[in-house]
Amino acid sequence: MARLNDHYLKLAAGYLFPEISRRMNAFSEANPGADIIKLGIGDVVLPLAPTIRQAMHEAIDELATPEGFRGYGPSEGYDFLRETIARNDYVDRGVRIEPDEIHVSDGSKCDSANIQEIFASDATVAVTDPVYPVYVDTNVMAGRTGEADETGRYAGLEYLPCTRENGFLPALPERPVDMVYLCSPNNPTGVVTPRDELRKWVDWARANGSIILFDAAYERFITEDLPHSIFEIDGARECAIEFRSFSKTAGFTGIRCAYIVIPKELEGRDSRGGSVSVAQLWSRRTNTKFNGVSYPVQRAAEAVYSEAGRKEVQANIDYYMTNARLILDGLAKTGLTTFGGVNAPYVWLKTPNGLDSWQFFDQLLEKAHVVGTPGSGFGAHGEGYFRLSAFGLREKVEEAIERISSSLG
Ligand code: MLT
Repeated sequence: MARLNDHYLKLAAGYLFPEISRRMNAFSEANPGADIIKLGIGDVVLPLAPTIRQAMHEAIDELATPEGFRGYGPSEGYDFLRETIARNDYVDRGVRIEPDEIHVSDGSKCDSANIQEIFASDATVAVTDPVYPVYVDTNVMAGRTGEADETGRYAGLEYLPCTRENGFLPALPERPVDMVYLCSPNNPTGVVTPRDELRKWVDWARANGSIILFDAAYERFITEDLPHSIFEIDGARECAIEFRSFSKTAGFTGIRCAYIVIPKELEGRDSRGGSVSVAQLWSRRTNTKFNGVSYPVQRAAEAVYSEAGRKEVQANIDYYMTNARLILDGLAKTGLTTFGGVNAPYVWLKTPNGLDSWQFFDQLLEKAHVVGTPGSGFGAHGEGYFRLSAFGLREKVEEAIERISSSLG
């Protein structure tokens, strides 16, 4: 028999969201009449904005003409999109990013999963706890960790606890690491890293030769005066990579488009001690493994920045953030303690009555027919917490709040 990658065997049996679906489907089968409301995985529900649909249609029509047909596109994105992103998301907001520092992809999940490939196979890694599981699992698959302990923590990874006591903002790692994953607005806690904290991270990374992998997939949901990009901080160009996505922002979870920003100044070290451009390695990887996002999807992403597209997309974001506020207000009345939900589409709540995260999951499913995400699925420090997503239709969200309230009453 062929030998397989043993490191996969260290992983918990299932990825978090399929495991939630499995439990939900089992409950549905046993209770066929139950009308389950899903506020678990953060998946958008509002239809595609008209301007985006129009742009996609036009791009498809263009491809159906002899003069407009295109085959393979550039692996890292068409110039029209890279230029639009650099101008709108960075330059117009006072941040220097050039179009060729934008690498267009099919999703931030893939980008944040794949980025570790260009680091040394024994590179050291720090992650927050709780954490978006992709950062951890992909490093486990790559063999950068030992086995998991009974709390699910892998040997060799440095975990940075995010607790109620520290405002869910992690302390700096105790030792230098090659890469550290930060997510702001945070999935799952919904907390945004403020400017002074980001400055500490940038100073630390530069002093220690570390690279910050900054996941800003939810930055459009920020409603307060908080940083949207790590590149708002001086010096970040020498120590950070940023991930951004159209998935939640513009309803692209099924369409797939995202991008990663790698400044030209960012360098790593090879095994002989020489400096190597990080962007160059990422481009090399992309050109080998990817043929780019489809032309109609890139035209659709471009339309997100048009005047009409911007308004339509903002209306959808406002809709989800109103859901978040309703969840926060509704849960406050039940006496539950909540966090997040103001600058992110996720509400992070403390489970009541000492229930653990999966016990609360089961209780909500059984009594309220509402599905959320158990905090322990995001790490040991997520135990005793629970995440509700604000990505739902208004009437479903309102119904869920009522049902949760009566199930607790
Ligand atoms: C989540 O619910 O955490 C997200 O939908 C996961 C993802 O974006 O991959």
